[in-house]
Amino acid sequence: VLVSDGSSLTARQAIDALGRRSGVEIEVVDSGGLPLAHFSRFVSRVHRVPPYGTEPLRWLDATAGVLERGGHDVLFAAHEQTAVLAHAVDRVRATGAGLCVPPFASLACLQDKHLAAQTLERVGLHQPRTRLAASADEVRRLTDGPVYVKARVATASAGVFLARDGAELAAALGKLTGHGAFDHGGVLLQDPASGPLVMVQSAFDRGTLVAHHAVRRRREGADGSSSHKQSVVVPEIARDLARLGRRLGWHGALSLDAILTPDGPCYIDVNPRLVEPGNAQLAGVDLVGTLLELARGRAVAPSPSGRAGTRTHQLLPALLGAAQQGRGRGGVVAEVLAAGLHQGSYVGSAEELTPIGRDPLAAVPVAAVTIALIAWPRLHSAFASGATRNYALTATGWEEIVAAHEAAAGGSQVSSRATTGSPRDATHPA
Ligand SMILES: Nc1ncnc2c1ncn2[C@@H]1O[C@H](COP(=O)(O)OP(=O)(O)O)[C@@H](O)[C@H]1O
Ligand SMILES: [Mg+2]
Repeated sequence: VLVSDGSSLTARQAIDALGRRSGVEIEVVDSGGLPLAHFSRFVSRVHRVPPYGTEPLRWLDATAGVLERGGHDVLFAAHEQTAVLAHAVDRVRATGAGLCVPPFASLACLQDKHLAAQTLERVGLHQPRTRLAASADEVRRLTDGPVYVKARVATASAGVFLARDGAELAAALGKLTGHGAFDHGGVLLQDPASGPLVMVQSAFDRGTLVAHHAVRRRREGADGSSSHKQSVVVPEIARDLARLGRRLGWHGALSLDAILTPDGPCYIDVNPRLVEPGNAQLAGVDLVGTLLELARGRAVAPSPSGRAGTRTHQLLPALLGAAQQGRGRGGVVAEVLAAGLHQGSYVGSAEELTPIGRDPLAAVPVAAVTIALIAWPRLHSAFASGATRNYALTATGWEEIVAAHEAAAGGSQVSSRATTGSPRDATHPA
């Protein structure tokens, strides 16, 4: 199996799940960053490829080159590479490798957060009031907070800012303008929802939900990640998910973020890809195995939802979070001790990212990050942004993929093209 990424938390968790299956040999394509995949006994080779986030088509050429040299049964779409792979299904399959990705037109309904909000609205999933604003002036005319301001294409909280008042809004607009968000069709303004955050992961077989799982965030790690989780069963979420995937004819992995409000789940983000499968695996939902079977072209029987109450953690994002949240050296040391002694938030919780017991090499990045953070607590930002930069698709990267897809389709427009214009409500205000 060739895994499409080696730096993200999701890819590292998928590698663990793949590696524990008998008869699976793993190679990885990776563009550098926090090289988590290098530190696993399950990975026999890492192929260096260009950075996916900014140059997805060059990434594709290099990855296709690895596949053309032969020997891979499956290209496993581990993260945002799903976007370019949905465009290049025929090219990948021509190498003899199996691949499980959604139809490109369906993916294009969700990759951009504005189009995703419109899609949720069309399918009838509940979300906070969400508006598109074309310029910073327009944002200021519409609101002075509290509001979430979101770039249309971004992940790992890199393009999302909570502005509680005018000053925070000005700071957020400064950053978004600096990142060029207004050159890519404006930004989303979303009302804050309050309640626990639930992350949902699932797999579909041509429009049918075949596996799903939900976890509640127990603690936040660095950059909006969830360092600690606990599985939950929310039947409403499974119903919503099934409806969304059926309407889009979804195939492969699909993930959602929801806030559990007193009125039921309120969806704040859709990820047209796999998201951290470790907790699901432990709670009895084999998302990775299901996606592997689908990539091999085999039918899979729908599986029931996972057990509630399964607790997992990821020490690395917890360490980076301790440094980022200003808890300093003492906070980093306290985190390592609590994890090592299974105390505090680590009681009854299993490591889902760097499982040192079954994969001793995983201790290397944990030890390296611990030592580095104790010496220089401010290094946290270099670690987190370094990893994200390589796998997170940029707005320019996404536009490049859409243009390539339209060119291949003989110029016919894919609905995803970012459009500037007057603010439009993606949802009906309540
Ligand atoms: N409308 C909202 N209400 C409450 N929290 C939100 C909202 N939007 C985003 N968040 C918080 O910000 C985080 C990142 O936002 P999200 O839209 O999921 O972007 P990303 O693509 O970076 O995951 C979420 O995980 C959640 O904690
Ligand atoms: Mg999210």
